[in-house]
Amino acid sequence: MPGKGACSAEIDFQHRVVTDYVSLMRESLMTGATRSAIKLELAELARFARLHFAFEESAMRAHGYPAIRIHAHEHLALSGLIALLERTGERVSSIELMLRLEQQMLDHLGSRDALFDSWLEANETDCRWHVRSFPLKVAL
Ligand SMILES: [Fe+2]
Ligand SMILES: [Fe+2]
Repeated sequence: MPGKGACSAEIDFQHRVVTDYVSLMRESLMTGATRSAIKLELAELARFARLHFAFEESAMRAHGYPAIRIHAHEHLALSGLIALLERTGERVSSIELMLRLEQQMLDHLGSRDALFDSWLEANETDCRWHVRSFPLKVAL
């Protein structure tokens, strides 16, 4: 059985990073970290999530993934929630929003992203060029 393709493996790696950022923020919120620390973590999560969404969508385009529109629509909703959190970071409601973001992000990983992963397993062509040309790892 062949191993994962380059795109699929890269996306798995990025999902681990996103999950780590979300866990870190939850821990910071629950343990009473300073607002400036939480704001910094949120900025990192926002930056990485935007790059990840862009990478995933470009991989979908490169492979002709048929469900790209609905998937990208969920990315847009998640990005909107992240932007809302960035704007309301100083308010009490941000904890509630953060938990909502965590839930929606994990739901997305477990549903839309899992569907794309299964599809990629059956349809991925050689896209090492695509992974190499994307600046995400350089930006980390
Ligand atoms: Fe996604
Ligand atoms: Fe993803």
